[in-house]
Amino acid sequence: MTLLAIETSCDETAAAVVDTDGRLLASTVRSQELLHAQFGGVVPEVASRAHNAYILPIVDKALADAGRKYADLKAVAVTAGPGLLGSLLVGLSTAKALAFALKVPLVAVDHLQAHVAAAFIDGKLAPRFPMLALVVSGGHTVLYRIDDFGRQRILGATRDDAVGEAYDKVGALLQLGYPGGPIIDKLATAYQGEFIDFPVPMQHSGDLQFSFSGLKTAVVDYCRKHPVLDEKSKQRVAASFQKAAVTALVVKLEQALRAQRAEFSSTPIAQVVVCGGVACNSALRRALSQSPIVSKYETLIPEPRFCTDNAAMIAWLGLQQFKRGDVASLSLAPYASARMV
Ligand code: KG4
Ligand code: ZN
Repeated sequence: MTLLAIETSCDETAAAVVDTDGRLLASTVRSQELLHAQFGGVVPEVASRAHNAYILPIVDKALADAGRKYADLKAVAVTAGPGLLGSLLVGLSTAKALAFALKVPLVAVDHLQAHVAAAFIDGKLAPRFPMLALVVSGGHTVLYRIDDFGRQRILGATRDDAVGEAYDKVGALLQLGYPGGPIIDKLATAYQGEFIDFPVPMQHSGDLQFSFSGLKTAVVDYCRKHPVLDEKSKQRVAASFQKAAVTALVVKLEQALRAQRAEFSSTPIAQVVVCGGVACNSALRRALSQSPIVSKYETLIPEPRFCTDNAAMIAWLGLQQFKRGDVASLSLAPYASARMV
């Protein structure tokens, strides 16, 4: 049994192949970073056009890397949302055409649940529910309680910018290049000195919501008052922004774990997953491992190549869905926003 998965929700065109046991046979990712760098962020129309150009060669490459042919495929999984509609449509049309032509089932995968599933691709640990998952990416900042894949509740989400988006905007402000996340991470790691006291967003909001646009504005205001020109000042701003952003994420995760523990009627959380592009961040990884509350739980963070967008995570979750008969019709439509359940 061979399953092909396709991911085109944002600015990575990706395909992956898994076998019956979920073993990853191939994972190909074509990033569009350079295309969007000149605009300082993802331009939806540019992304759709690039997906259109890359999708078939990427699928061909994934199959070739896996040593499989189209005729070997028993199912095709695809990201149905959330994401940019024009981008999703490219993957969806390709997957539908393949499923129709090969007469195999189509499987619709949720991108955010797949980010969580990325923690299990390596096969080291199996998922255990209920799970608390923090998805931190360029497009989303969502805290879920997951009772099974497909049965999840959003406990909190960002009211405005996603945390990765804030990283990218601060990166643009400091003229560091795009995407800003990995560059800020590097600059901050090298920084030694005092931190600027940026506010930790929503720390005392009393709920599990996030917000990152206020922190971004605080950085903009600071840079207006203290022009940041030399490398050392850039490092200081980057490190101070990162400190506040990472603290906000860890504090909310801790609050969510405490709240879940206080709910006596519900089954205790069995696993914690932190995933999505920002989960590559070295300071976040360190802070999670040092948190006395988080470290009481079995906590999984996918390896960095499976934190950022990829199709291996779509394949892993798509295979589970296929095995339990959760297949989609060819009239499947893409969706733009995070699904509540
Ligand atoms: O998951 P992803 O590839 O795409 C979305 O689904 O949005 O996440 C991309 C985001 C970008 O905002 C990027 O700046 C951020 O992840 N990112 C990081 C790091 N590596 C990627 N942010 C902070 N530190 C990093 N090391
Ligand atoms: Zn993503």
